[in-house]
Amino acid sequence: MISLDLKLQSLTSKDLSAILELDQACFGGLWTMEGYQRELDSPNSDLLGLFSPISRTKLLGMGCFWSILEEAHITILAVHPQYHRQGLGQVLLYSLLKTASDRGLERATLEVRASNLAAISLYQKFGFKTAGRRRRYYQDNGEDALILWRSDLQQPQFQATLADWYTKVSQQLSKSAWQLS
Ligand SMILES: CC(C)(COP(=O)(O)OP(=O)(O)OC[C@H]1O[C@@H](n2cnc3c(N)ncnc32)[C@H](O)[C@@H]1OP(=O)(O)O)[C@@H](O)C(=O)NCCC(=O)NCCS
Repeated sequence: MISLDLKLQSLTSKDLSAILELDQACFGGLWTMEGYQRELDSPNSDLLGLFSPISRTKLLGMGCFWSILEEAHITILAVHPQYHRQGLGQVLLYSLLKTASDRGLERATLEVRASNLAAISLYQKFGFKTAGRRRRYYQDNGEDALILWRSDLQQPQFQATLADWYTKVSQQLSKSAWQLS
């Protein structure tokens, strides 16, 4: 079977229209162009994108975190709806956690809708634990947010965990004929 190369790259201002297109497809317009530009300009923000092998302008998924003191605050994790369940979310989360660890950050945290079982299941696979709940956090429907944490990013065994995840993520991708270039 021929595998198609995915490209994982830091996003730049050149990618803004692809970012907005993906934001629209995934969230119906979560952040504005100015919002993404602020992220791209901020030294405390890491914005990663997964590009299709066919076209450099087609963004299949993206993830973002803010470095705040020794914590990575994951603010976005999104895969284009046409490409769900192919392992792309795992690649992105793996890459966010690896980048956070490489930056010397100790732990990662995020908020997720209590009903978002797909995302919660993904986060649990990467060792996130529920630490609390913000009642009626989301203004659109009054839904609660779960607060998840993943600690130990600077423990020596985390490097072995990363290597293990990389193997699993690569195997998952290959089932959908993807590989990371
Ligand atoms: C959450 C999201 C990023 C997952 O992306 P994805 O590429 O489909 O995920 P993967 O194929 O890598 O799946 C990884 C794991 O996530 C979980 N998962 C993903 N989709 C799922 C679903 N529909 N139902 C249950 N579990 C699901 C599973 O544990 C899965 O592992 P498995 O395939 O071995 O069962 C994607 O659904 C998405 O973009 N959702 C909209 C945006 C969003 O909710 N982001 C999170 C905000 S905090």
